[in-house]
Amino acid sequence: MNFNKIFFGTKLLVAGLLAISFAAHAQETVTSKAAKLTQFTPGTIWPDNKGVHINAHGGGMLYQKGTYYWFGEHKIAGGAGNRAMVGVHCYSSKDLYNWKDEGIALAVSPDTTSDIAKGCILERPKVVYNKKTKKYVMWFHLELLGQGYKAARAGLAISDKATGPYTFVKSYRPNAGFMPIYPPGTPDNEKVDCANPKNKSEGFFCRDVPGGQMARDMNVFVDDDGKAYHIFSAEENFTLDIAELNDDYTGHTGKFTRVYAGHQTEAPAIFKHNGTYYLIGSGTTGWAPNPARWFSAPSIWGPWTYHGNPCVGTGSEITFGGQSTYVLPVVGKKDAFIFMADKWTPKDAIDGRYLWLPIVFKGNDIEIDWLDKWDLSAFKK
Ligand code: GAL
Repeated sequence: MNFNKIFFGTKLLVAGLLAISFAAHAQETVTSKAAKLTQFTPGTIWPDNKGVHINAHGGGMLYQKGTYYWFGEHKIAGGAGNRAMVGVHCYSSKDLYNWKDEGIALAVSPDTTSDIAKGCILERPKVVYNKKTKKYVMWFHLELLGQGYKAARAGLAISDKATGPYTFVKSYRPNAGFMPIYPPGTPDNEKVDCANPKNKSEGFFCRDVPGGQMARDMNVFVDDDGKAYHIFSAEENFTLDIAELNDDYTGHTGKFTRVYAGHQTEAPAIFKHNGTYYLIGSGTTGWAPNPARWFSAPSIWGPWTYHGNPCVGTGSEITFGGQSTYVLPVVGKKDAFIFMADKWTPKDAIDGRYLWLPIVFKGNDIEIDWLDKWDLSAFKK
């Protein structure tokens, strides 16, 4: 009989049992801790179901059959995290406080010749569901590997399942060869004439007509009639374009309008309330916060009216340290919209925080005020 072997075997067994019980206990602690969130605490660590800070920056939401899906940029630690080293992360939730990690919905490619090669810049992913094709359609801002922010392309990926995996389809600059449309009554001398551009932004616009417009910070909005629109910073970020997507949501139709031309708006987020279209955006100061700005319009095609900063109170001049990324309509509640913003931490990208705040309607105007903590009871039924 080999006593050594038996002794060693017993030790292993005990160690194994101990490890299992410890892991089970740790899991329980993490789960019960994470499952208890009942409020939003903007700017703090937001643990997912595994107790890990949610990693979905520049995010957007998709709602389907009682579940919200949150898609955003997966960032890694340090400055390298400002580039796409992993892909687009997805989380799901039924109550908006507690989020389940659904993994990487769109992975960057190890192939350095791919448009979405690891190390490229892939920002502000937004997913919409197309009822006709039954496909989940993801659009994002794409910058090709090693080219900084020069490429300025719209990227497209598609999946049969909300949580993915998404397959990359194409990336390009939208609306090549097309001129914008204008709200009725726009005088001819306010329209772009590429034979005679009136200012810098029109110059950039005309330069880009043949190859398509630059497409950086972006969002996608689906209207009540099922039509979808891609809104993006074009013309070296001087102007926002609102562009119609085709019926499948997989391409641009060539119909688009220029919004707040020449005033450098980024981080666009659109929503609709009582038949009016609202748009919130930011200025253009990179990762550093600046005052938000809002607009409203009677039609998606404008005219869009500029209203200044929707934020009020202390910190409002820098959007409380954040930058808009999405406005989320809370399903089943009236007049309930959540302003979602990112508080970027470019030196350690993974530590970026989320600022969610309720939008307050004052007649047709909107206001956003800071709250240390709040919950959905802030909205009426
Ligand atoms: C911000 C933009 C971000 C990211 C960043 C890079 O203005 O909103 O999405 O592109 O610039 O500096």
